[in-house]
Amino acid sequence: MTSEHPRRMILTGASRGLGLEFTRYWLAAGHHVFALARSASTSDGLAKLAADHGKALHRFDMTVADEESVTRAGAHIGATWDAADLLLNNAGIYKHKGDTLADLNLDDCLETIKVNTLGPIRMARALRPLLRMGDRPRIINMTSLMGSIADNSSGGSWGYRMSKTALNMASRNMAHELAADGIITVVIHPGWVRTDMGGAAAPLTIQEAVAAMTRAMDNFTIAQGGGFYDRNGEPMPW
Ligand SMILES: NC(=O)c1ccc[n+]([C@@H]2O[C@H](COP(=O)([O-])OP(=O)(O)OC[C@H]3O[C@@H](n4cnc5c(N)ncnc54)[C@H](OP(=O)(O)O)[C@@H]3O)[C@@H](O)[C@H]2O)c1
Repeated sequence: MTSEHPRRMILTGASRGLGLEFTRYWLAAGHHVFALARSASTSDGLAKLAADHGKALHRFDMTVADEESVTRAGAHIGATWDAADLLLNNAGIYKHKGDTLADLNLDDCLETIKVNTLGPIRMARALRPLLRMGDRPRIINMTSLMGSIADNSSGGSWGYRMSKTALNMASRNMAHELAADGIITVVIHPGWVRTDMGGAAAPLTIQEAVAAMTRAMDNFTIAQGGGFYDRNGEPMPW
């Protein structure tokens, strides 16, 4: 982010992949970061950043799939900071890429929705009081083009697709409700990125995707709230 003063950033899924790189990038820019994940305290990547950045980085183990865990995380952050400027709902899971109607595992679909869709809702609810006190506050929900109904030309990946489509709708609802608090809410698609989830064949590096998304996140206006954007801040098809 380009603000002169340190911004207070909170993100889920910070232990690896895109989330770890966001954490690195923001700390390098002088911001303060609350890094959340199930394995935040044991992530080697976060441990290295903690060694380099000391008090600017806070790590906290939690799961976005559980209400109590999110409430605990919210209380812990609230006891540490009196405001937050950005919440990035980045944690996500992607099971069974090649599934079909015949072999679809509905329990896995539900688990995916619990993490990818309900997780960001839980986080927004828990962090709203802190964001309301923030400077140019925003909630960025990490979606995927795979959640686009308009773009679905191949099928498959049922649970993941449905979870992100539902996240897109939840995000529009958040934008409506949270605009009264001055909070800008959008969904953003990072592109296909070389992470554990994206795999080795993905064309984008984590660094490219995160640098582009950070620029876009900083520039979103309240008028763009409720929208669906690519990593450069360009609108995407629903
Ligand atoms: N990579 C791509 O090409 C791509 C494309 C489109 C969208 N996305 C989206 O971008 C986001 C990040 O993806 P990525 O590629 O960086 O994935 P990744 O490398 O698999 O990392 C996922 C992160 O989410 C965390 N996480 C998973 N379940 C969690 C839970 N229940 N509670 C808290 N944290 C949890 C993981 O940490 P722990 O295991 O420590 O909890 C990890 O830090 C996801 O929302 C994904 O859907 C990625």
